[in-house]
Amino acid sequence: MEMNGSQPRENWGSKLAFIMAAAGSAIGLGNIWAFPTNAAANGGGAFLVVYLICVVLIGAPVMLAEFAIGRATQRNPVGAFKALAPKSGWKYLGGLGVVAGVVILSFYAVIAGWTVSYIFKCLAGTFKPGVDTAAIFEQMSGDPLNAIGYLAAFMALSVYVVVGGVRQGIERWTKVLMPILLVLLVLLGIRAVTLSGAGAGLAFYLKPDFSLINGKVILSAAGQAFFSLSLGMGTMITYGSYIAKKDDLVSSTLWVSTLDTAIAILAGLIIFPTLFHAGLGLQEGGPGMVFVVLTSLLGEMPPAPLGGIIFGTGFFLLLGIAAITSSVSLLEVGVAYIVDERKISRKKAGLFLGGLAFLLGIPSALGNGAVSWLTNLPVIGTDFLSFLFEVFGQYALAIGALFISIFVGWKWGVTNAAAEVELEGNAFRFHQIWSFLIKFVCPTVLIVILLNKVWTLIFGRGLI
Ligand code: TRP
Repeated sequence: MEMNGSQPRENWGSKLAFIMAAAGSAIGLGNIWAFPTNAAANGGGAFLVVYLICVVLIGAPVMLAEFAIGRATQRNPVGAFKALAPKSGWKYLGGLGVVAGVVILSFYAVIAGWTVSYIFKCLAGTFKPGVDTAAIFEQMSGDPLNAIGYLAAFMALSVYVVVGGVRQGIERWTKVLMPILLVLLVLLGIRAVTLSGAGAGLAFYLKPDFSLINGKVILSAAGQAFFSLSLGMGTMITYGSYIAKKDDLVSSTLWVSTLDTAIAILAGLIIFPTLFHAGLGLQEGGPGMVFVVLTSLLGEMPPAPLGGIIFGTGFFLLLGIAAITSSVSLLEVGVAYIVDERKISRKKAGLFLGGLAFLLGIPSALGNGAVSWLTNLPVIGTDFLSFLFEVFGQYALAIGALFISIFVGWKWGVTNAAAEVELEGNAFRFHQIWSFLIKFVCPTVLIVILLNKVWTLIFGRGLI
């Protein structure tokens, strides 16, 4: 067994446990909160098509690359790049991941906190037919004590899980709860697509208008794919570092990316018909969209009012759990770094990074009505949370994924990566395609969309 300091490195209990943990990281608010919001802002069906292409062409290949780096080195991202490219600048790529993890966690926990508060609202039977769900959301997110309190509560929970050991707690619960979340989503989806006016929503979501595709749509879709698949900042390197050498990395990649994508698509099938049914309009976007739209469906779940209460409570409970399994993975990257490289205890590392993310989360929590300049940032024009999501949740991940693909394609090399995949007699299906994608397609696509973004910032409009 690989030794690290004085302690042997932990492994996942089984391949299934690993897939569950990685899927638990991937499936979260990104699928249910961010995906529909992003799709609404970027042309609906056009976004969906570009998103699917991004998952296949750049998402899944980068995921496999991250797993291979992690398992080959059995290290956190900083340690992994140090091991594969000693005395080079590549370790800073790992460092960028650690920083991005803490920043993403800071705002992620704010939204997850809203989820927790909605569990109680649903239990109390708040969402009767015809209530103004937008007003309820504004009141909840605009109350500073509420916003910071739930942020603190959720952060404490994440720290608790990471410190207490992911394997015994989260690994076991995820296996039971994720399938239940899926069932609830399917039921909500059935209700949504049978609503009056659902057709227009489905058309917006499923009939792509290709003329809407431009550089911004492509960048948003790529960023969303990385965010949703937990790529570009070393989460999957870290999770990969706990994979047993006998496990098949290719099938794991296919499982995790397929499950994650299916749930994102399903979330859209709930949100868009409901949006059009309720006549809410796409301009209701922003961080609150899903909370406003989903809850307007609850009053219509039979039998009233119990149906809405049961569905709503169950839904937000499971969404909170899906969020915990993701926030844990965000925190785990930095914790693994501190434990591996600085030889500080897991507990101290978790408390320190969780505390930091909590403090960083405060402006995001206050930027939804409580403090007006954070709600509408000068010059930038969005709220603080949306700003961080764009910079760290999208660009930083696209940049991270770009360098990871360059690293694996050109520095470490596809041959070394393939040798890791083929350990203990595993066949590397799609070997040639993967090599081509990671060496040429991923870097090129990412460079083009990032340059286009820079161009847009400077000249006000994009090249594509
Ligand atoms: N993928 C998670 C979601 O969709 C969020 C997440 C967890 C994440 N770990 C990550 C995003 C690492 C980016 C990078 O909710």
